Amino acid sequence: MKRAVAAVLLVLLSLLVHSNAEEEAFDVRQHLSTVCRYGVVKGIADSSFVPSKIPNGCTPIHLNLVARHGTRSPTKKRIKELDNFATHLEVLLREAEEQNLSLEKLPGWLKGWKSPWKGKLKGGELIIQGEDELYDLGIRTRARFPNLFNDDYHPDVYAIKATQVPRASASAVAFGMGLFSGKGRLGPGRHRAFAVTSESRASDTKLRFHDCCQNYKAFKKSQEPAVDKLKEPVYDEITSGLRRRYRLNFTRQDTTSLWFLCKQEASLLNIVDQACALFSPSEVSLLEWTDDLEAFILKGYGKSINYRMGVPLLEDVVQSMEQAIKAEEEKHAPGSYEKARLRFAHAETVIPFSCLLGLFLDGSEFEKIQREQALPHPPKPPQKRNWRGHTVAPFGGNNMLVLYSCPANTSNKHFVQVLHNENPIPMPGCDGTDFCPLDVFKERIVAPHLKHDYNSVCNVKLEQQEQKPVASKLSQLFRWMFSLGNGDKSSLDEL
Ligand SMILES: *[C@@H]1O[C@H](CO)[C@@H](O)[C@H](O)[C@H]1NC(C)=O
Ligand SMILES: *[C@@H]1O[C@H](CO)[C@@H](O)[C@H](O)[C@H]1NC(C)=O
Ligand SMILES: *[C@@H]1O[C@H](CO)[C@@H](O)[C@H](O)[C@H]1NC(C)=O
Repeated sequence: MKRAVAAVLLVLLSLLVHSNAEEEAFDVRQHLSTVCRYGVVKGIADSSFVPSKIPNGCTPIHLNLVARHGTRSPTKKRIKELDNFATHLEVLLREAEEQNLSLEKLPGWLKGWKSPWKGKLKGGELIIQGEDELYDLGIRTRARFPNLFNDDYHPDVYAIKATQVPRASASAVAFGMGLFSGKGRLGPGRHRAFAVTSESRASDTKLRFHDCCQNYKAFKKSQEPAVDKLKEPVYDEITSGLRRRYRLNFTRQDTTSLWFLCKQEASLLNIVDQACALFSPSEVSLLEWTDDLEAFILKGYGKSINYRMGVPLLEDVVQSMEQAIKAEEEKHAPGSYEKARLRFAHAETVIPFSCLLGLFLDGSEFEKIQREQALPHPPKPPQKRNWRGHTVAPFGGNNMLVLYSCPANTSNKHFVQVLHNENPIPMPGCDGTDFCPLDVFKERIVAPHLKHDYNSVCNVKLEQQEQKPVASKLSQLFRWMFSLGNGDKSSLDEL
Protein backbone atom coordinates (compact mmCIF):
# COMPACT_ATOMS: atom_id res chain seq x y z
CA MET A 1 0.00 0.00 0.00
CA LYS A 2 2.71 2.41 1.06
CA ARG A 3 4.59 1.52 -2.06
CA ALA A 4 1.61 2.25 -4.27
CA VAL A 5 1.17 5.65 -2.66
CA ALA A 6 4.83 6.38 -3.12
CA ALA A 7 4.63 5.34 -6.75
CA VAL A 8 1.62 7.56 -7.36
CA LEU A 9 3.41 10.42 -5.64
CA LEU A 10 6.44 9.82 -7.77
CA VAL A 11 4.38 9.90 -10.93
CA LEU A 12 2.64 13.07 -9.83
CA LEU A 13 5.96 14.63 -8.93
CA SER A 14 7.51 13.77 -12.24
CA LEU A 15 4.48 15.14 -14.04
CA LEU A 16 4.86 18.36 -12.10
CA VAL A 17 8.57 18.60 -12.78
CA HIS A 18 8.00 17.77 -16.41
CA SER A 19 5.34 20.41 -16.94
CA ASN A 20 7.53 22.95 -15.15
CA ALA A 21 10.42 22.10 -17.40
CA GLU A 22 8.22 22.58 -20.43
CA GLU A 23 7.08 25.97 -19.22
CA GLU A 24 10.64 26.99 -18.55
CA ALA A 25 11.62 25.98 -22.04
CA PHE A 26 9.79 28.96 -23.51
CA ASP A 27 8.85 31.84 -21.29
CA VAL A 28 7.32 34.62 -23.35
CA ARG A 29 8.39 37.13 -20.71
CA GLN A 30 11.96 36.67 -21.94
CA HIS A 31 11.00 37.46 -25.52
CA LEU A 32 9.53 40.93 -25.27
CA SER A 33 12.49 42.88 -26.64
CA THR A 34 12.77 46.24 -24.86
CA VAL A 35 9.49 45.67 -23.00
CA CYS A 36 11.13 42.97 -20.86
CA ARG A 37 11.18 43.47 -17.11
CA TYR A 38 14.62 43.90 -15.59
CA GLY A 39 14.28 40.95 -13.22
CA VAL A 40 13.46 38.57 -16.06
CA VAL A 41 16.68 39.23 -17.93
CA LYS A 42 19.13 40.45 -15.29
CA GLY A 43 20.50 36.96 -14.82
CA ILE A 44 21.08 36.44 -18.53
CA ALA A 45 24.77 36.78 -19.18
CA ASP A 46 27.00 35.20 -21.77
CA SER A 47 27.85 31.98 -19.96
CA SER A 48 30.95 31.40 -22.06
CA PHE A 49 32.46 34.67 -20.88
CA VAL A 50 34.69 34.53 -17.81
CA PRO A 51 34.82 37.92 -16.07
CA SER A 52 38.15 39.30 -14.95
CA LYS A 53 39.32 38.75 -11.45
CA ILE A 54 39.91 42.20 -10.04
CA PRO A 55 43.54 42.16 -8.83
CA ASN A 56 44.17 42.59 -5.12
CA GLY A 57 44.99 46.13 -4.25
CA CYS A 58 42.66 47.61 -6.90
CA THR A 59 39.82 49.66 -5.45
CA PRO A 60 36.87 51.34 -7.16
CA ILE A 61 37.17 55.10 -6.89
CA HIS A 62 34.32 56.28 -9.13
CA LEU A 63 31.12 54.94 -10.65
CA ASN A 64 29.29 56.11 -13.75
CA LEU A 65 25.78 54.80 -14.21
CA VAL A 66 23.57 55.19 -17.25
CA ALA A 67 20.18 53.57 -16.64
CA ARG A 68 16.89 53.33 -18.43
CA HIS A 69 13.72 54.11 -16.47
CA GLY A 70 11.86 51.17 -14.96
CA THR A 71 8.72 49.46 -16.17
CA ARG A 72 6.14 52.01 -17.20
CA SER A 73 2.56 51.99 -18.33
CA PRO A 74 1.67 52.34 -22.01
CA THR A 75 1.66 55.81 -23.49
CA LYS A 76 -1.50 57.67 -24.42
CA LYS A 77 -1.05 56.89 -28.10
CA ARG A 78 -0.77 53.17 -27.41
CA ILE A 79 -3.76 53.20 -25.07
CA LYS A 80 -5.72 54.67 -27.97
CA GLU A 81 -4.43 51.96 -30.28
CA LEU A 82 -5.72 49.27 -27.94
CA ASP A 83 -9.13 50.94 -27.79
CA ASN A 84 -9.20 50.97 -31.59
CA PHE A 85 -8.39 47.29 -31.57
CA ALA A 86 -11.30 46.61 -29.20
CA THR A 87 -13.61 48.40 -31.63
CA HIS A 88 -12.33 46.47 -34.62
CA LEU A 89 -12.64 43.22 -32.71
CA GLU A 90 -16.34 43.94 -32.14
CA VAL A 91 -16.80 44.45 -35.88
CA LEU A 92 -15.04 41.17 -36.67
CA LEU A 93 -17.14 39.26 -34.16
CA ARG A 94 -20.37 40.77 -35.45
CA GLU A 95 -19.45 39.89 -39.04
CA ALA A 96 -18.70 36.33 -38.07
CA GLU A 97 -21.98 36.02 -36.22
CA GLU A 98 -23.93 37.42 -39.14
CA GLN A 99 -22.42 34.75 -41.33
CA ASN A 100 -23.28 32.07 -38.76
CA LEU A 101 -19.59 31.21 -38.47
CA SER A 102 -18.59 29.19 -35.49
CA LEU A 103 -16.66 31.12 -32.87
CA GLU A 104 -15.65 28.01 -31.01
CA LYS A 105 -12.02 28.37 -32.07
CA LEU A 106 -11.90 31.75 -30.43
CA PRO A 107 -10.46 32.03 -26.91
CA GLY A 108 -13.18 33.15 -24.50
CA TRP A 109 -11.33 36.23 -23.25
CA LEU A 110 -11.47 37.81 -26.73
CA LYS A 111 -15.28 37.94 -26.72
CA GLY A 112 -16.25 41.34 -25.43
CA TRP A 113 -12.61 42.22 -24.73
CA LYS A 114 -11.88 45.69 -23.41
CA SER A 115 -8.46 47.19 -22.90
CA PRO A 116 -7.30 47.13 -19.27
CA TRP A 117 -6.23 50.75 -19.83
CA LYS A 118 -9.55 51.85 -21.29
CA GLY A 119 -10.57 55.29 -20.12
CA LYS A 120 -7.11 56.16 -18.86
CA LEU A 121 -6.31 59.59 -20.10
CA LYS A 122 -2.70 59.63 -19.05
CA GLY A 123 0.04 57.14 -19.69
CA GLY A 124 3.77 56.57 -19.73
CA GLU A 125 4.33 56.82 -15.98
CA LEU A 126 6.65 54.63 -13.93
CA ILE A 127 4.51 51.91 -12.35
CA ILE A 128 4.94 50.33 -8.92
CA GLN A 129 6.92 47.40 -10.32
CA GLY A 130 9.21 49.88 -12.05
CA GLU A 131 9.82 51.60 -8.72
CA ASP A 132 10.87 48.26 -7.26
CA GLU A 133 13.33 47.64 -10.08
CA LEU A 134 15.18 50.90 -9.49
CA TYR A 135 14.93 50.84 -5.70
CA ASP A 136 16.41 47.34 -5.59
CA LEU A 137 19.12 48.36 -8.05
CA GLY A 138 20.02 51.22 -5.70
CA ILE A 139 20.31 48.85 -2.75
CA ARG A 140 22.41 46.35 -4.70
CA THR A 141 24.68 49.09 -6.03
CA ARG A 142 25.53 50.31 -2.53
CA ALA A 143 26.09 46.75 -1.30
CA ARG A 144 28.40 46.01 -4.21
CA PHE A 145 30.54 49.13 -3.84
CA PRO A 146 30.53 49.88 -0.11
CA ASN A 147 33.60 52.10 -0.23
CA LEU A 148 32.06 54.26 -2.95
CA PHE A 149 28.92 54.91 -0.95
CA ASN A 150 30.28 55.37 2.57
CA ASP A 151 30.51 59.17 2.38
CA ASP A 152 27.80 61.44 3.72
CA TYR A 153 25.41 62.47 1.02
CA HIS A 154 26.34 65.61 -0.80
CA PRO A 155 25.00 66.48 -4.24
CA ASP A 156 28.53 67.02 -5.53
CA VAL A 157 29.73 63.67 -4.23
CA TYR A 158 26.75 61.72 -5.56
CA ALA A 159 25.41 63.52 -8.61
CA ILE A 160 22.00 62.21 -9.64
CA LYS A 161 20.75 63.31 -13.03
CA ALA A 162 17.57 62.49 -14.87
CA THR A 163 15.87 63.70 -18.00
CA GLN A 164 12.91 66.00 -17.64
CA VAL A 165 10.56 63.13 -18.43
CA PRO A 166 8.71 62.11 -15.23
CA ARG A 167 9.26 58.33 -15.58
CA ALA A 168 13.01 58.96 -15.72
CA SER A 169 13.11 61.32 -12.74
CA ALA A 170 10.80 59.02 -10.75
CA SER A 171 13.27 56.23 -11.54
CA ALA A 172 16.11 58.38 -10.20
CA VAL A 173 14.12 58.95 -7.01
CA ALA A 174 13.37 55.24 -6.56
CA PHE A 175 17.05 54.43 -7.07
CA GLY A 176 18.16 57.12 -4.63
CA MET A 177 15.70 55.92 -2.01
CA GLY A 178 17.32 52.49 -2.20
CA LEU A 179 20.85 53.85 -2.37
CA PHE A 180 20.52 56.09 0.69
CA SER A 181 17.95 54.11 2.68
CA GLY A 182 18.80 53.97 6.37
CA LYS A 183 21.21 56.88 6.01
CA GLY A 184 18.90 59.73 6.93
CA ARG A 185 16.28 60.60 9.53
CA LEU A 186 13.07 60.65 7.53
CA GLY A 187 10.36 58.22 8.54
CA PRO A 188 10.73 54.61 9.63
CA GLY A 189 12.89 53.85 6.57
CA ARG A 190 15.31 56.59 7.75
CA HIS A 191 15.37 58.07 4.29
CA ARG A 192 17.48 60.90 3.11
CA ALA A 193 16.42 63.71 0.85
CA PHE A 194 18.61 64.01 -2.21
CA ALA A 195 18.70 66.15 -5.32
CA VAL A 196 17.85 65.02 -8.81
CA THR A 197 18.79 67.54 -11.45
CA SER A 198 17.64 67.80 -15.06
CA GLU A 199 18.58 69.77 -18.10
CA SER A 200 15.82 71.34 -20.11
CA ARG A 201 14.49 68.89 -22.69
CA ALA A 202 15.34 71.25 -25.50
CA SER A 203 19.05 71.27 -24.68
CA ASP A 204 19.73 67.99 -22.88
CA THR A 205 22.46 66.77 -25.21
CA LYS A 206 23.85 64.35 -22.62
CA LEU A 207 20.72 62.33 -21.89
CA ARG A 208 18.19 63.32 -24.55
CA PHE A 209 20.50 63.84 -27.50
CA HIS A 210 17.99 62.04 -29.72
CA ASP A 211 15.52 64.82 -29.08
CA CYS A 212 17.92 67.66 -29.87
CA CYS A 213 19.61 66.13 -32.88
CA GLN A 214 17.88 67.45 -36.02
CA ASN A 215 19.74 65.19 -38.43
CA TYR A 216 18.85 62.14 -36.36
CA LYS A 217 15.18 63.06 -36.31
CA ALA A 218 15.23 63.46 -40.08
CA PHE A 219 17.04 60.14 -40.50
CA LYS A 220 14.60 58.32 -38.25
CA LYS A 221 11.60 59.71 -40.06
CA SER A 222 13.03 58.78 -43.44
CA GLN A 223 13.86 55.24 -42.34
CA GLU A 224 10.57 54.32 -40.73
CA PRO A 225 8.82 53.22 -43.95
CA ALA A 226 11.77 50.99 -44.84
CA VAL A 227 11.68 49.41 -41.39
CA ASP A 228 7.97 48.74 -41.79
CA LYS A 229 8.67 47.10 -45.14
CA LEU A 230 11.22 44.80 -43.49
CA LYS A 231 8.72 43.80 -40.83
CA GLU A 232 5.81 43.34 -43.22
CA PRO A 233 6.46 39.76 -44.42
CA VAL A 234 6.66 38.52 -40.83
CA TYR A 235 3.49 40.33 -39.86
CA ASP A 236 1.64 39.09 -42.94
CA GLU A 237 2.61 35.51 -42.31
CA ILE A 238 1.59 35.68 -38.67
CA THR A 239 -1.66 37.44 -39.55
CA SER A 240 -2.68 34.63 -41.86
CA GLY A 241 -1.77 32.15 -39.15
CA LEU A 242 -4.05 33.96 -36.71
CA ARG A 243 -6.90 34.01 -39.26
CA ARG A 244 -6.54 30.33 -39.92
CA ARG A 245 -6.45 29.37 -36.28
CA TYR A 246 -9.13 31.64 -34.87
CA ARG A 247 -11.39 32.05 -37.94
CA LEU A 248 -11.52 35.83 -37.73
CA ASN A 249 -10.46 38.26 -40.42
CA PHE A 250 -7.60 39.84 -38.50
CA THR A 251 -5.65 42.56 -40.28
CA ARG A 252 -1.96 43.33 -40.03
CA GLN A 253 -2.86 46.19 -37.72
CA ASP A 254 -4.69 43.72 -35.46
CA THR A 255 -1.55 41.59 -35.28
CA THR A 256 0.44 44.68 -34.35
CA SER A 257 -2.04 45.52 -31.60
CA LEU A 258 -2.18 41.95 -30.31
CA TRP A 259 1.62 41.75 -30.11
CA PHE A 260 1.67 45.06 -28.31
CA LEU A 261 -1.04 43.79 -25.97
CA CYS A 262 0.90 40.58 -25.35
CA LYS A 263 3.98 42.58 -24.34
CA GLN A 264 2.02 44.81 -21.98
CA GLU A 265 0.07 41.95 -20.42
CA ALA A 266 3.15 39.83 -19.87
CA SER A 267 5.38 42.60 -18.62
CA LEU A 268 3.01 44.81 -16.62
CA LEU A 269 0.26 42.43 -15.54
CA ASN A 270 2.10 39.12 -15.60
CA ILE A 271 -0.62 37.65 -17.82
CA VAL A 272 0.82 35.21 -20.35
CA ASP A 273 -2.21 33.09 -21.22
CA GLN A 274 -4.21 35.66 -23.18
CA ALA A 275 -2.77 37.75 -26.02
CA CYS A 276 0.62 36.04 -25.79
CA ALA A 277 -1.01 32.61 -26.01
CA LEU A 278 -2.49 33.50 -29.41
CA PHE A 279 1.02 33.22 -30.85
CA SER A 280 3.17 30.12 -31.07
CA PRO A 281 6.66 30.30 -29.58
CA SER A 282 8.18 30.56 -33.04
CA GLU A 283 5.83 33.40 -33.95
CA VAL A 284 6.77 35.20 -30.73
CA SER A 285 10.43 34.76 -31.62
CA LEU A 286 9.82 36.33 -35.02
CA LEU A 287 7.89 39.26 -33.58
CA GLU A 288 10.63 39.77 -31.02
CA TRP A 289 13.15 39.80 -33.85
CA THR A 290 11.23 42.50 -35.75
CA ASP A 291 11.35 44.66 -32.61
CA ASP A 292 15.06 44.00 -32.19
CA LEU A 293 15.64 44.77 -35.85
CA GLU A 294 13.86 48.09 -35.54
CA ALA A 295 15.90 49.02 -32.47
CA PHE A 296 19.08 48.05 -34.33
CA ILE A 297 18.28 50.18 -37.36
CA LEU A 298 16.80 53.22 -35.64
CA LYS A 299 18.67 53.26 -32.33
CA GLY A 300 21.66 50.95 -32.57
CA TYR A 301 24.50 49.94 -34.86
CA GLY A 302 22.31 50.26 -37.97
CA LYS A 303 23.55 53.77 -38.65
CA SER A 304 26.42 55.69 -37.08
CA ILE A 305 24.39 58.81 -36.31
CA ASN A 306 22.32 56.72 -33.86
CA TYR A 307 25.22 56.52 -31.46
CA ARG A 308 27.51 59.34 -32.63
CA MET A 309 24.94 61.79 -31.34
CA GLY A 310 25.67 60.32 -27.88
CA VAL A 311 29.23 61.64 -27.87
CA PRO A 312 28.44 64.38 -25.30
CA LEU A 313 27.42 61.65 -22.84
CA LEU A 314 30.59 59.67 -23.50
CA GLU A 315 32.67 62.80 -23.00
CA ASP A 316 30.86 63.49 -19.75
CA VAL A 317 31.65 59.98 -18.51
CA VAL A 318 35.35 60.24 -19.37
CA GLN A 319 35.60 63.72 -17.90
CA SER A 320 34.11 62.49 -14.61
CA MET A 321 36.77 59.77 -14.49
CA GLU A 322 39.56 62.25 -15.12
CA GLN A 323 38.25 64.45 -12.32
CA ALA A 324 38.14 61.48 -9.97
CA ILE A 325 41.76 60.66 -10.80
CA LYS A 326 42.79 64.25 -10.27
CA ALA A 327 41.11 64.29 -6.86
CA GLU A 328 42.94 61.09 -5.98
CA GLU A 329 46.32 62.34 -7.16
CA GLU A 330 45.95 65.67 -5.43
CA LYS A 331 44.72 63.91 -2.30
CA HIS A 332 41.54 65.95 -1.97
CA ALA A 333 39.80 65.55 1.40
CA PRO A 334 37.04 62.91 1.48
CA GLY A 335 33.65 64.45 0.84
CA SER A 336 35.11 67.08 -1.47
CA TYR A 337 35.08 65.12 -4.73
CA GLU A 338 32.57 63.15 -6.75
CA LYS A 339 32.35 59.39 -6.28
CA ALA A 340 29.41 58.57 -8.49
CA ARG A 341 27.51 60.15 -11.37
CA LEU A 342 24.15 58.44 -11.68
CA ARG A 343 21.99 59.07 -14.73
CA PHE A 344 18.41 58.04 -15.46
CA ALA A 345 17.07 58.27 -18.96
CA HIS A 346 15.62 56.22 -21.80
CA ALA A 347 16.24 53.33 -24.16
CA GLU A 348 17.18 56.10 -26.62
CA THR A 349 20.06 56.90 -24.26
CA VAL A 350 21.15 53.45 -23.07
CA ILE A 351 21.19 51.78 -26.51
CA PRO A 352 23.43 54.36 -28.21
CA PHE A 353 25.66 54.50 -25.15
CA SER A 354 26.18 50.72 -25.31
CA CYS A 355 27.04 51.12 -29.00
CA LEU A 356 29.60 53.82 -28.22
CA LEU A 357 31.26 51.32 -25.90
CA GLY A 358 31.14 48.71 -28.67
CA LEU A 359 29.14 46.20 -26.63
CA PHE A 360 27.41 43.15 -28.18
CA LEU A 361 29.85 42.99 -31.06
CA ASP A 362 32.47 40.47 -31.88
CA GLY A 363 36.01 41.58 -32.71
CA SER A 364 35.55 41.77 -36.48
CA GLU A 365 32.32 43.72 -36.15
CA PHE A 366 34.07 46.21 -33.89
CA GLU A 367 36.72 46.71 -36.57
CA LYS A 368 34.00 47.32 -39.13
CA ILE A 369 32.36 49.96 -36.97
CA GLN A 370 35.72 51.67 -36.52
CA ARG A 371 36.20 51.69 -40.28
CA GLU A 372 32.72 53.22 -40.57
CA GLN A 373 31.35 50.21 -42.41
CA ALA A 374 27.77 49.16 -41.91
CA LEU A 375 26.99 45.98 -40.03
CA PRO A 376 24.60 43.37 -41.44
CA HIS A 377 21.18 43.26 -39.81
CA PRO A 378 20.67 40.85 -36.91
CA PRO A 379 19.83 37.50 -38.56
CA LYS A 380 16.30 36.16 -38.48
CA PRO A 381 15.44 33.30 -36.10
CA PRO A 382 16.12 30.44 -35.78
CA GLN A 383 19.61 31.85 -36.39
CA LYS A 384 21.23 33.19 -33.26
CA ARG A 385 22.03 36.86 -32.78
CA ASN A 386 23.97 38.93 -30.26
CA TRP A 387 21.66 41.87 -30.60
CA ARG A 388 18.73 41.16 -28.31
CA GLY A 389 16.54 44.07 -27.20
CA HIS A 390 15.81 42.34 -23.94
CA THR A 391 19.45 42.41 -22.88
CA VAL A 392 20.44 45.64 -24.61
CA ALA A 393 17.72 47.74 -22.97
CA PRO A 394 15.06 46.08 -20.81
CA PHE A 395 13.16 48.31 -18.39
CA GLY A 396 15.76 49.47 -15.86
CA GLY A 397 18.57 48.28 -18.17
CA ASN A 398 21.87 49.92 -17.38
CA ASN A 399 25.58 50.28 -17.91
CA MET A 400 27.95 50.92 -15.04
CA LEU A 401 31.50 52.03 -15.67
CA VAL A 402 33.55 51.41 -12.58
CA LEU A 403 36.85 53.23 -12.37
CA TYR A 404 39.46 51.28 -10.44
CA SER A 405 42.67 52.56 -8.96
CA CYS A 406 45.46 49.97 -8.95
CA PRO A 407 48.45 51.72 -7.36
CA ALA A 408 50.50 48.51 -7.23
CA ASN A 409 50.48 48.02 -11.00
CA THR A 410 53.59 49.41 -12.58
CA SER A 411 52.22 49.70 -16.11
CA ASN A 412 48.64 50.92 -15.53
CA LYS A 413 47.29 52.70 -12.50
CA HIS A 414 43.67 52.93 -13.59
CA PHE A 415 41.22 50.51 -15.12
CA VAL A 416 37.61 50.67 -16.27
CA GLN A 417 35.25 47.78 -15.71
CA VAL A 418 31.99 47.75 -17.62
CA LEU A 419 28.94 46.08 -16.11
CA HIS A 420 25.90 45.70 -18.30
CA ASN A 421 22.76 44.99 -16.30
CA GLU A 422 25.20 44.40 -13.43
CA ASN A 423 27.12 41.67 -15.24
CA PRO A 424 30.72 42.19 -16.38
CA ILE A 425 30.65 42.37 -20.17
CA PRO A 426 33.45 41.97 -22.68
CA MET A 427 34.62 45.02 -24.61
CA PRO A 428 35.68 43.96 -28.09
CA GLY A 429 37.52 47.29 -28.31
CA CYS A 430 39.70 46.19 -25.41
CA ASP A 431 40.66 42.70 -26.61
CA GLY A 432 37.44 41.24 -25.26
CA THR A 433 38.06 41.97 -21.61
CA ASP A 434 35.63 43.58 -19.17
CA PHE A 435 38.51 45.17 -17.22
CA CYS A 436 40.32 47.59 -19.43
CA PRO A 437 43.33 49.81 -18.72
CA LEU A 438 41.96 53.34 -18.76
CA ASP A 439 44.51 54.49 -21.35
CA VAL A 440 43.50 51.69 -23.70
CA PHE A 441 39.83 52.45 -23.09
CA LYS A 442 40.34 56.10 -23.95
CA GLU A 443 42.56 55.48 -26.94
CA ARG A 444 40.76 52.62 -28.65
CA ILE A 445 37.13 52.96 -27.59
CA VAL A 446 36.57 56.63 -26.84
CA ALA A 447 39.00 58.56 -29.06
CA PRO A 448 37.68 57.36 -32.44
CA HIS A 449 34.23 58.75 -31.54
CA LEU A 450 35.57 62.11 -30.42
CA LYS A 451 36.52 62.96 -33.99
CA HIS A 452 32.83 63.68 -34.46
CA ASP A 453 31.48 66.59 -32.51
CA TYR A 454 27.80 66.77 -31.71
CA ASN A 455 27.11 69.83 -33.72
CA SER A 456 28.54 68.53 -36.96
CA VAL A 457 26.81 65.17 -36.49
CA CYS A 458 23.45 66.65 -35.60
CA ASN A 459 22.91 70.12 -36.76
CA VAL A 460 24.98 70.77 -39.85
CA LYS A 461 22.20 70.67 -42.38
CA LEU A 462 22.43 67.93 -44.92
CA GLU A 463 19.98 69.65 -47.22
CA GLN A 464 20.89 72.94 -48.86
CA GLN A 465 18.02 75.32 -48.10
CA GLU A 466 19.56 76.43 -44.81
CA GLN A 467 18.26 79.74 -43.59
CA LYS A 468 20.20 82.26 -41.61
CA PRO A 469 21.20 80.82 -38.22
CA VAL A 470 19.10 83.32 -36.29
CA ALA A 471 15.98 82.46 -38.22
CA SER A 472 16.51 78.74 -37.76
CA LYS A 473 17.16 79.17 -34.06
CA LEU A 474 13.93 81.11 -33.82
CA SER A 475 12.00 78.53 -35.77
CA GLN A 476 13.48 75.84 -33.55
CA LEU A 477 12.27 77.75 -30.54
CA PHE A 478 8.80 78.08 -32.05
CA ARG A 479 8.69 74.41 -32.89
CA TRP A 480 9.71 73.67 -29.36
CA MET A 481 7.03 75.89 -27.83
CA PHE A 482 4.51 74.48 -30.22
CA SER A 483 5.37 70.92 -29.31
CA LEU A 484 4.94 71.76 -25.63
CA GLY A 485 1.45 73.00 -26.36
CA ASN A 486 0.75 69.79 -28.19
CA GLY A 487 1.54 67.58 -25.26
CA ASP A 488 4.97 66.77 -26.62
CA LYS A 489 4.16 64.76 -29.73
CA SER A 490 7.85 64.19 -30.37
CA SER A 491 8.30 61.84 -27.44
CA LEU A 492 5.13 59.82 -27.73
CA ASP A 493 6.89 57.07 -29.58
CA GLU A 494 9.86 56.77 -27.38
CA LEU A 495 10.68 53.80 -25.27
C1 LIG B 1 -27.97 32.27 -40.13
O1 LIG B 1 -28.85 31.43 -39.43
C2 LIG B 1 -30.17 31.96 -39.32
C3 LIG B 1 -31.03 31.00 -38.51
O2 LIG B 1 -30.27 30.01 -37.89
C4 LIG B 1 -30.76 32.18 -40.70
O3 LIG B 1 -32.06 32.77 -40.59
C5 LIG B 1 -29.85 33.09 -41.51
O4 LIG B 1 -30.34 33.19 -42.82
C6 LIG B 1 -28.45 32.55 -41.54
N1 LIG B 1 -27.58 33.48 -42.20
C7 LIG B 1 -26.64 33.17 -43.10
C8 LIG B 1 -25.86 34.28 -43.72
O5 LIG B 1 -26.44 32.02 -43.42
C1 LIG C 1 -13.18 37.21 -44.36
O1 LIG C 1 -13.17 37.97 -45.54
C2 LIG C 1 -13.45 37.23 -46.71
C3 LIG C 1 -13.40 38.14 -47.89
O2 LIG C 1 -12.65 39.26 -47.65
C4 LIG C 1 -14.81 36.55 -46.62
O3 LIG C 1 -15.06 35.76 -47.73
C5 LIG C 1 -14.87 35.71 -45.36
O4 LIG C 1 -16.16 35.18 -45.18
C6 LIG C 1 -14.51 36.53 -44.14
N1 LIG C 1 -14.46 35.70 -42.97
C7 LIG C 1 -14.99 36.05 -41.82
C8 LIG C 1 -14.83 35.09 -40.71
O5 LIG C 1 -15.58 37.09 -41.66
C1 LIG D 1 49.14 45.41 -14.50
O1 LIG D 1 48.25 45.63 -15.59
C2 LIG D 1 48.49 44.82 -16.70
C3 LIG D 1 47.51 45.23 -17.77
O2 LIG D 1 47.80 46.52 -18.21
C4 LIG D 1 48.32 43.37 -16.33
O3 LIG D 1 48.58 42.56 -17.44
C5 LIG D 1 49.25 43.03 -15.18
O4 LIG D 1 49.00 41.71 -14.75
C6 LIG D 1 49.06 43.99 -14.03
N1 LIG D 1 50.06 43.74 -12.99
C7 LIG D 1 49.74 43.61 -11.71
C8 LIG D 1 50.88 43.39 -10.77
O5 LIG D 1 48.57 43.67 -11.32
